[in-house]
Amino acid sequence: MSENSFAQDRIKCLRALAALPETEGSPLQTSVADIETKVATLLSEMDIGAKLGQIYQISASHQNEKVEEQVRQGRVGSILNQIDPNWIRELQRIAVEESPDRIPLIVGRDVIHGFRTIAPIPLALSATWNPELVKAVSAGAAAETRAVGVNWTFAPMIDVTRDPRWGRVAESPGEDPFLTAVMGQAMIQGFQGDDLAAPDRVAACAKHFAGYGASEGGRDYNTAWIPEQQLWETHLPSFQVAVEAGVATFMSGFNDLNGVPATGNAFLLDEVLRHRWGFNGFVVSDWKSVEEMIAHGIAADRAEAGLLAARAGVDMEMVSSCAPDHLERLIEEGEFPLERLDCMVANILRVKFALGLFEQPYPPEGAVYPPAMDERVSELARQAAAESFVLLKNEGSVLPLCAARPKIALIGPLADAPADQLGTWSLDGRPEDSVTPLAAFREREKKGAVELHYAPGLAYSRDTNEAGFAEALAAANEADVVVFVGGEEAFLSGEAHSRAYLNLPGAQEALIQKLKESGKPLVLVVMAGRPLVLEAVLPQVDALLYAWHPGTFAGPALADVLCGNVVPSGKLPITFPKAEGQIPIFHGRRNTGRPFNPQHWVPLDQVPPGSSQTSVGGSSYCLDVGDTPRFVFGEGLSYTRFEWSAPALSRSTLPLGESTEVSVVVKNIGQCTGSEVVQLYLRDIAASVTRPISELKGFEKISLAPGESCTMRFELSPEMLSFPDATGSARLEPGEFTVSVGSNSRDVQSVRLMLE
Ligand code: BGC
Repeated sequence: MSENSFAQDRIKCLRALAALPETEGSPLQTSVADIETKVATLLSEMDIGAKLGQIYQISASHQNEKVEEQVRQGRVGSILNQIDPNWIRELQRIAVEESPDRIPLIVGRDVIHGFRTIAPIPLALSATWNPELVKAVSAGAAAETRAVGVNWTFAPMIDVTRDPRWGRVAESPGEDPFLTAVMGQAMIQGFQGDDLAAPDRVAACAKHFAGYGASEGGRDYNTAWIPEQQLWETHLPSFQVAVEAGVATFMSGFNDLNGVPATGNAFLLDEVLRHRWGFNGFVVSDWKSVEEMIAHGIAADRAEAGLLAARAGVDMEMVSSCAPDHLERLIEEGEFPLERLDCMVANILRVKFALGLFEQPYPPEGAVYPPAMDERVSELARQAAAESFVLLKNEGSVLPLCAARPKIALIGPLADAPADQLGTWSLDGRPEDSVTPLAAFREREKKGAVELHYAPGLAYSRDTNEAGFAEALAAANEADVVVFVGGEEAFLSGEAHSRAYLNLPGAQEALIQKLKESGKPLVLVVMAGRPLVLEAVLPQVDALLYAWHPGTFAGPALADVLCGNVVPSGKLPITFPKAEGQIPIFHGRRNTGRPFNPQHWVPLDQVPPGSSQTSVGGSSYCLDVGDTPRFVFGEGLSYTRFEWSAPALSRSTLPLGESTEVSVVVKNIGQCTGSEVVQLYLRDIAASVTRPISELKGFEKISLAPGESCTMRFELSPEMLSFPDATGSARLEPGEFTVSVGSNSRDVQSVRLMLE
């Protein structure tokens, strides 16, 4: 068979962000008329007390009679944090048999990257650049969740963030608005399917609306100041796509956005979400974020906080009860219209009907917690972990470990850390289910595939006790290669867990330095919830595999990739800085009037003492680290190599409002089958508003056998060539564009496009 007969031609038609999802039909749109009639009928029968009950969500982590009584009286519309199917069944029974209006509860839980079976953290899922896989992983999580009677997840988190200091970067799909939107859409489709009432689906929740990812200084819960131009082009698109994908619910953020907390922000919730985007599900506040408007300094007391939130467009209050407690009086006093309360309740009932809760509120017969693990869900979690690993350095092709029976020294505090490999927000994940790297390599050792020497060296990631160093070095001396699995414990990222220093914590850097004495090739595997600053260790190691927090099947996935059973294909969803002082640093920045000129850069130690103000500098960079990050957005190596043709446009001069097509040929010129992510970037050279130097507009992950080539085609539509202005209206302006295609945001080839 000739090489050419392997050639493929793939066409990718991408739609602009504003209209990206070709959804399978919004679950909330099904039988709209039918549901609306039911909602209206029920609403007409409810008294004000029952209505106020619907807008209140309580945390019910332990079975107790007080909660049962509140449900019996119809004073609660939703619970969160209850996962015992027996108690959920009893609460639903009380709700539908004993409460005045017989309305079932909607039962929420943070199922962020898996329920019992934990998949990689969302940042890692984004690193797969494989939305189909992410959709399947989310569907698996939904099935495990609904199996215990929980019918609503507080996911996906689709806050764009460019700050690795922020602990919640772990929960996000990263820095890019397009990738975030695509991943959010995939998760929503996976969680919800096309029928919310199906026994294996749950309602999703797009959070945290909006701007939370821009928390000042990366400190959690902090203020976000986001100019409207940036809000529309960076922070809102993923949420608009979520609405178009039919997401059932939204969560308002904790943060203050431009002086108005997101939870009391009528511009966001009422004007944009309800009126511009036509969202018809319901908005839940974040945990006590209504009451917290007092601390923000925008509400004088609980009554005012409840009023602000309800007026702005929050339908359900999580945990605090400012609106449920005070709206009745405020309605009587004419401060708040009853019709508005009716809308809030209708929004909630609409989702309950769509979930089929009025027909079937209960967990399935025989449901138990934890639900049984499912082979298919496990396999997806393992595949997602392997696909999320990003190979960032591989000097001398030290990986894969190809020897017939490699002698491996397995070192490091995360080589056998069953809880930490699960990462943040793994509430229902069980360390006892985890297969650690140590367990996976031991399995291979039993089969005679490897010789293993294990010595952790450090007990946990922040450990500074060097007592285990000698044993670790002895293990390294016995081996052909050292695999060091380090990084961050799970709790170092996630909510309220920001960091100012992003290096490997504890004595890990010192241990790596020590292991160099063995003279053996050193492979560093980093498990972390964020990009770390690895400058101190990068020169010491031969290979770097970034594994994030990979979940339940970290071990087998890692062994697969290290041993070459799986070829790495992950790409960074976020830029890695060289130093914390570079943050924020991301691919879609503006050019500035004095873009970095490498010729201006002189390493700081070569600048003579007494140098004058104008002797160095002259363009936009830091004197000490220059301008470039350590690793760029989209970066990631493979065990094979790809050759790229220059991109070609079907038409390089285009009348305004028409489309053109860009094509590129990618060929696998290495020795093994591997996947490449073909990334399409645009730059609008001169517009009425300065534009980013690179905007991701499309991508496609392709798998190619050795010698195989593929022509990738992307349609460039007018929507993709336009940008939102500061009011959110799309602008399509004539002028020159650079169309770039490549394997990351830096290594691209470009063509010029003229829009006339
Ligand atoms: C978080 C949300 C989460 C909620 C419920 C809050 O602290 O910000 O993301 O869904 O708690 O657990």
